[in-house]
Amino acid sequence: MANTILVGAQWGDEGKGKIIDVLTGKADIVVRSQGGNNAGHTVIHGEKKFVLHLIPSGILRRGKICVIGNGVVIDPVALVSEIDGLRKAGIKIGKNLLISDCAHLVLPYHRALDEQRELRKGHAKIGTTKRGIGPAYGDKAARTGLRVADLMQPELFSQKLRVKMRENNSILKALGARPISFAKVNAEFLAAGERLRPFVANTVVYLHKALQQGKEILFEGAQGTFLDIDHGTYPYVTSSNTTAGGACTGTGVAPHRMDRVLGVMKAYTTRVGEGALPTEDATIAGMLHEMGREFGATTGRARRCGWFDAVATHYATMINGIDDLAITNLDGLDSVDPIKVCVGYRLDGKKLDVPPSDAAQWTRCRPVYLEMPGWKRSTEKAKKFSDLPNEAQNYARRIAALTGARLTMASVGPARGQTLLL
Ligand code: GDP
Ligand code: IMO
Ligand code: MG
Repeated sequence: MANTILVGAQWGDEGKGKIIDVLTGKADIVVRSQGGNNAGHTVIHGEKKFVLHLIPSGILRRGKICVIGNGVVIDPVALVSEIDGLRKAGIKIGKNLLISDCAHLVLPYHRALDEQRELRKGHAKIGTTKRGIGPAYGDKAARTGLRVADLMQPELFSQKLRVKMRENNSILKALGARPISFAKVNAEFLAAGERLRPFVANTVVYLHKALQQGKEILFEGAQGTFLDIDHGTYPYVTSSNTTAGGACTGTGVAPHRMDRVLGVMKAYTTRVGEGALPTEDATIAGMLHEMGREFGATTGRARRCGWFDAVATHYATMINGIDDLAITNLDGLDSVDPIKVCVGYRLDGKKLDVPPSDAAQWTRCRPVYLEMPGWKRSTEKAKKFSDLPNEAQNYARRIAALTGARLTMASVGPARGQTLLL
């Protein structure tokens, strides 16, 4: 299995959590390298459904070490509550969790600013998760952020926090929002910091030692390729590098230590929030929502849905260097016939085979479709790829070929057992 970077090849929610859970069986360590609790990774473990936000999805399996890397932005209060929730559900959390001391903190003023900025944008809003992700990464880039290492030094933390709160409260007041109490945040954060202290470490050193010992690491991407701050549908993106390179910068593990990149993609397309989605289709959205599917794991928002977009996924293969593909939610198309696949865009009379860089142009792209026959049968009980109806096998192989990577997994349901290996 070697050291694998797992990335979302679309707009997030591709089913990364489920695939991580399957792959964790063979890995020693699972690492998150970017994003924060904007992520929601669903894993069905036994009879229970878990949604992981900050903690790597590998935590559900005994004997696996989970690391929150330096590139993640951590809301300590949310993290403590996630730990408590998992423990309550019977998941052991102790020496199996490490938190980077270099990770940046998400503070309540980041969340308040996220909300205010979205409000002021009106129709031009991004549709963020309102978890404060953009403002937290903004502070990191501006070199004015607070880190886990600060939180581990209570006196220093309080001093730094006081300065930051003064500055951010004046911004919030100017925006017409209520200021936030320093005393309350300080107390809450120091308490959360003490709860997190046993997990805090230099995770770069930990990971390097593990590599020397021949341990196998799984890098759990959050969000998806087209939410990447550089390569996504800017400005309708998140604020981190969600593409494969983020796994290196967000953990301190060098590129040549990585052995392969696995792209996860749905058999169709979904997106939460605003921004381009050329293959968006009301019929397929209606059908999936009626089945109770495609509601956000973090915010509960109905996801926008559309046909598979091979222009986008082909580009994702290039940016991430995707070797292998896992196609999820193949069963979502069980009753659809015919099935459309986008193989090109039309923009101002021209045909494009790569997405335009400008988000407004991307929004104006019209998809060029090919049609494939549906299978009109349930696939959820398939145990082997060859159990699938021929039309489903052909569809999966065709979209993998259009994407330009090797098909290695197909998923026909949310449970671990509903995974077909090729
Ligand atoms: P992530 O953010 O990429 O981990 O994906 P989410 O957990 O946000 O959303 C994926 C949803 O699809 C979750 O509800 C999963 O349980 C579910 N899921 C994953 N793979 C499959 C599949 O092959 N079939 C079905 N029916 N559901 C799936
Ligand atoms: P996982 O890891 C889907 C989207 C938001 C919004 C944009 C910016 O579960 O795939 P942010 O709060 O990050 O500033 O929001 O990015 N977004 C996601 N969409 N899955 C996610 O994570 C997402 N994380 C952020 O909806 O459009
Ligand atoms: Mg999700």
